[in-house]
Amino acid sequence: MALSTIGILQNLLLVYAGYTLCKVVYRVKFSPLRAFKGPLIAVSTNLYRFYYDAILQGRFLSNLEVLHQQYGSVVRIGPNALHFNSLRAYFDIYKADSSVVKDPELYAVFGFDESSIGFIDPNASLMRRELLNPFFSRRAILELEAVIQSKVDKFVNLLREYTAEKPVNAHYAFRCLTLDVIWNYCFADDFNALDAKDFTHPILVSIQTQIRSFWVLKYIPILLSTILSVPDTVFKYVSPTLFVYLESRRRYTEMVDKLLDDPSTLHDSDRATIFHHLILPQKHLKGSNQIPSRSSLIDEAIALVQAGSDTVANTCTIGIFHVLDDPFIHKKLLDELRLAWPDEELQVSLQTLEKLSYLTAVIKESLRLSTGVVTPLSRVVGPQGAIIDGHHVPAGTIVAMGATFVHKNEEIFPEPLRFWPERWIENTSLNRYLVPFSRGPRMCLGMNLSWAELYLIFANVLRKLDLTPYNTSADDFRTYRELFVPVYDGREFHLARSTNAK
Ligand code: HEM
Repeated sequence: MALSTIGILQNLLLVYAGYTLCKVVYRVKFSPLRAFKGPLIAVSTNLYRFYYDAILQGRFLSNLEVLHQQYGSVVRIGPNALHFNSLRAYFDIYKADSSVVKDPELYAVFGFDESSIGFIDPNASLMRRELLNPFFSRRAILELEAVIQSKVDKFVNLLREYTAEKPVNAHYAFRCLTLDVIWNYCFADDFNALDAKDFTHPILVSIQTQIRSFWVLKYIPILLSTILSVPDTVFKYVSPTLFVYLESRRRYTEMVDKLLDDPSTLHDSDRATIFHHLILPQKHLKGSNQIPSRSSLIDEAIALVQAGSDTVANTCTIGIFHVLDDPFIHKKLLDELRLAWPDEELQVSLQTLEKLSYLTAVIKESLRLSTGVVTPLSRVVGPQGAIIDGHHVPAGTIVAMGATFVHKNEEIFPEPLRFWPERWIENTSLNRYLVPFSRGPRMCLGMNLSWAELYLIFANVLRKLDLTPYNTSADDFRTYRELFVPVYDGREFHLARSTNAK
């Protein structure tokens, strides 16, 4: 009996080994992608990507740079996946009338499938964007200026107070600020992350601790739903940081439920918010675009807050570090700010700041070097196939090109690792190659909001405070893990009061 069970197992193993071998041979020799070259293990199995994503925790991007040096402008990075490195390819993949759709495997990792970012179906995405667009228009953002300004004022005061005593972790500080802005814009409610002592809000600390394991969720999709189905309290003792994170997810649910139970609170608010727009019926929209379901509203809340906080904060971290680290850039920017804004006690308008050419160049350079989302945004080629950089790519292939490959292209941006705002003033044709917000039908919805925040944060922090980087150098930002957003390997950027400050 025992022998026959072993025999069955042996046969099953043999069948499985045979099947795997056939699959490998097919992928290498007969796949429609066989003309595209890449490491044998990447071409034949998903283990290669798994190793860099999950075992090395976010090291695939740095490895991609090596692969392109070895294989040229297109590399086969998986049995069914290609990564490109050419400007033409970037604009072919992320073009307006794109025949590619988001790759479901990549976006499932976030656990907000029914949201603007998470929707794979182009029609669902189009409808959600139609619903949200008015809230991200330039006009809408100008109306929000006072809210952003009030959060920035609070931030500047706190930063002044904290840095009088000891250096402050700038990375957490900017994240508290951007989290408070987007939360307020979503719900007309205060998250009050800025109130956390020294800006170390437990939710942000928890995210920072958990994020390294992020890609594991891509390979074990059931993990996220399992974690979410277990009562939060179970994690209280097993993993306190995970507990805090789960608690933060509950906060979104509670917020949405509160608004659904009593939408009249939305009418009471002195200005419209994003959830106003999502929950109250919209007369101008066609019948099919109805109020999203409760689960979709929760997904949307998580998606918007996540998309709208880390990205802006990272741009501030990179930009403000580089400005303070270079006395020439710092002085030039301060001269421009002081001329346009002589009395710092008075408020400066967003529209005044937008006209400042050097400040604008500094922000562009910060967006270029921080990139926002560093993970190559993978797309699936539609049924007609696609021509990418002159290559015919068959239907169903996963294609991508990371924005970092555009932003670090030496021909477009000489000395790509140098923070050099002048490049944007000397050559305005560079604007086409600034792609932190991606391109095409799925490009960032929050672009106008981001620019408004960046103008107000950079101008107020640098004009009103005399700060200097503390125990941080440019080398601390040289390498990073790619976990959708970058997580730098070096010391975290701290801000201190400059010794020259009164
Ligand atoms: C410097 C700041 C920002 C950068 C660099 C940035 C970058 C990006 C990128 C690269 C994408 C495309 C993602 C993809 O294809 O999967 C994206 C999408 C998106 N972003 Fe941003 N983002 C920023 C700020 C914001 C803000 C403040 C919001 C406000 C909530 C926001 C909302 C969104 C939304 C809703 C999408 C999904 C669009 C879609 O899939 O149709 N982003 N962002």
